[in-house]
Amino acid sequence: MAKSKSAYFCQSCGYESPKWLGQCPSCRQWNTFVEEMVSTGASRVPEWRSTTVGSAKRQNKAAIIHEIVYSAEQRIITPDKELNRVLGGGIVPGSLVLIGGEPGIGKSTLMLQLALSLPKTKVLYISGEESEQQIKMRAERLSQQSRAECYILTETSIQNIFKQAEAVRPDIVVIDSIQTLHSQQIESAPGSVSQVRECTAELLRYAKESNVPVFIVGHITKDGSIAGPKVLEHM
Ligand SMILES: Nc1ncnc2c1ncn2[C@@H]1O[C@H](COP(=O)(O)OP(=O)(O)OP(=O)(O)O)[C@@H](O)[C@H]1O
Ligand SMILES: [Mg+2]
Ligand SMILES: [Zn+2]
Repeated sequence: MAKSKSAYFCQSCGYESPKWLGQCPSCRQWNTFVEEMVSTGASRVPEWRSTTVGSAKRQNKAAIIHEIVYSAEQRIITPDKELNRVLGGGIVPGSLVLIGGEPGIGKSTLMLQLALSLPKTKVLYISGEESEQQIKMRAERLSQQSRAECYILTETSIQNIFKQAEAVRPDIVVIDSIQTLHSQQIESAPGSVSQVRECTAELLRYAKESNVPVFIVGHITKDGSIAGPKVLEHM
């Protein structure tokens, strides 16, 4: 098991410091530092890889730009024209998309609508906020009686999420919300800077290595920033 130590994180911008500071040197805000426990293990295996059997580390080679081909049709085009437009013309494989918004603005609804609107596309919708029953009820209200391959998982452990992702092998993953997730690598509470940073980093790695697009729902606080850490937006 990894050793743990504590560090101080600015709850506003995610700046890390070994000691408590009154003012953040990065974002200049006062009294934003909170102590969080972080694991330090030299032999830390990223969660995503540690749960993926036989996924050899893919190594990217440098390629000359005029030989790189990309095809627009690789994108997953949703039936929602506005959503496609916001995403720059559909969902890019392996991308990480942050859905930010105030409480009650309709983030969960939008994501469930997306999950139900794509036939032949396996969507793993992970909720740490609502029960299966609540989600089912919302799905019925949306009355998109589709043949969608939409899998609902109520889970908050990132380790368990990756196990399920491996079992389901989805084409799209939705996380509702990042503030409810926790990694056992980090001892601080869900929603804390270090948890959000760790879980987002794991999801980013998963998206890149599996080429599965991941939607992350993030709450917005009173002051208009995505809950707590600016780190989420940066990532
Ligand atoms: N496009 C829409 N038009 C009208 N009402 C909507 C729309 N989207 C969602 N709603 C309604 O708004 C309410 C809140 O939606 P939802 O739970 O999806 O928001 P949320 O952003 O996920 O909230 P929270 O931050 O609490 O998780 C629900 O009652 C839902 O039915
Ligand atoms: Mg919600
Ligand atoms: Zn700061």
